[in-house]
Amino acid sequence: MRAVDLINKKRTGLRHEPGEIASLVDGYLRNIIPDYQMSAWLMAVCWRGLDAVETAELTRALVESGQQLAFRDLAMPVVDKHSTGGVGDKTTLVLVPMLAAAGCVVAKMSGRGLGHTGGTIDKLEAIPGVNTELGISDFAAAVRTRGIAVSAQSPDLAPGDGRLYALRDVTGTVESIPLIASSVMSKKIATGARAVVLDVKVGSGAFMKTLEGARNLSRAMVDLGLAAGLAVVAVITAMDQPLGMAVGNILEVQEAVATLRGGGSSDLLELCVILGAEVMVASGAALTITEARTRLEATISSGDAHRCLRDLVASLGGSPDAIDHPETLPTAPWQTPVVAHQDGVVARIDALAIGEVAMRLGAGRATKGALIDPAVGVVLSVRAGDRVHAGQSVGVVHSRKPLGSTDRLVSEVIGAFTWSATDIVREPLVLEVIR
Ligand code: URA
Repeated sequence: MRAVDLINKKRTGLRHEPGEIASLVDGYLRNIIPDYQMSAWLMAVCWRGLDAVETAELTRALVESGQQLAFRDLAMPVVDKHSTGGVGDKTTLVLVPMLAAAGCVVAKMSGRGLGHTGGTIDKLEAIPGVNTELGISDFAAAVRTRGIAVSAQSPDLAPGDGRLYALRDVTGTVESIPLIASSVMSKKIATGARAVVLDVKVGSGAFMKTLEGARNLSRAMVDLGLAAGLAVVAVITAMDQPLGMAVGNILEVQEAVATLRGGGSSDLLELCVILGAEVMVASGAALTITEARTRLEATISSGDAHRCLRDLVASLGGSPDAIDHPETLPTAPWQTPVVAHQDGVVARIDALAIGEVAMRLGAGRATKGALIDPAVGVVLSVRAGDRVHAGQSVGVVHSRKPLGSTDRLVSEVIGAFTWSATDIVREPLVLEVIR
């Protein structure tokens, strides 16, 4: 069938026959089908959707567009985690070393931040000397020999997704559940883990703004994983407020290290324990959630998880000193306190607004490939539910240029706060688990 017939078929809401999506993807990757036809088909998918069988065929085509890693010969279960992206989301920096210290092998390819959301690779590369572009063979060797590997996404794994994602990014076709699910899961399947935990964020700072959307995306990703023989569990978590206190690359590394040392944010640690326990049970590394939680918590009190992060950073070319003494990492030259104008209880701190301030300070990129400033960002000092007095500092803006207390960015941080006259019940962090 010609590409135009496949576009028309999807535009009019018909199902594709087996093999049609695979031939479309194949034609596109071999440059027989041009960008404009692929874009038209992607837009038709955004409006008409794909059913489970079509989504599975698209995922398979993306996986088969490149190499596939497999670690079936390893005695220990290989696990992976993925977050759909949020503000202040430094879970990988905390959870990956916790899982490795608890006896799992971790194989994790990560992305860079785009827009108001951060990315693990930017956070790791904020540590001087770190190089995350491992390449597929060094990544596989690190999984096998060290039991822990974090790398930037390899262009050799699911390269078809790289091509399609770049096209979706500039044609307004990112926000489609089957397209997101196949994009994420093709990379997870190609990376070769036995079990994956998906942290599906929902709220103002996330891709998914509604619980129903997050549920549908979770279900689609879990089903794709199961069809490919992976154990997958999706944890739907709130992203109405930043996770933890710090937003900005070095600031988040510092918070992650504090958390691994038993300090830091209790929300962040609790989320890592929940995600870690789910993937340990899914992979067979632990029999029960209670056993997994106990083992994960012990990696913090023993210092083993902190040591694992230090070893990981050293293996990527960074100085272990950065993890032993994170306060020596470069800081932004200007720190401006953000002051509450009123007495009250913090009802909410809008994640999207804080993420956008951090991005405009230089912590994130508005366009792919833009340079970021590793030292800038926002550190909050209060959480929802805290009682605050007028004049009290509720956070600090770390900037490259001097800011006055009336600067627009500082005002936008305080504008992200919603206030209540009375005590509030804090929203739960975990909304649902889909297994
Ligand atoms: N992240 C991905 O990897 N793919 C998408 O389509 C969206 C977010």
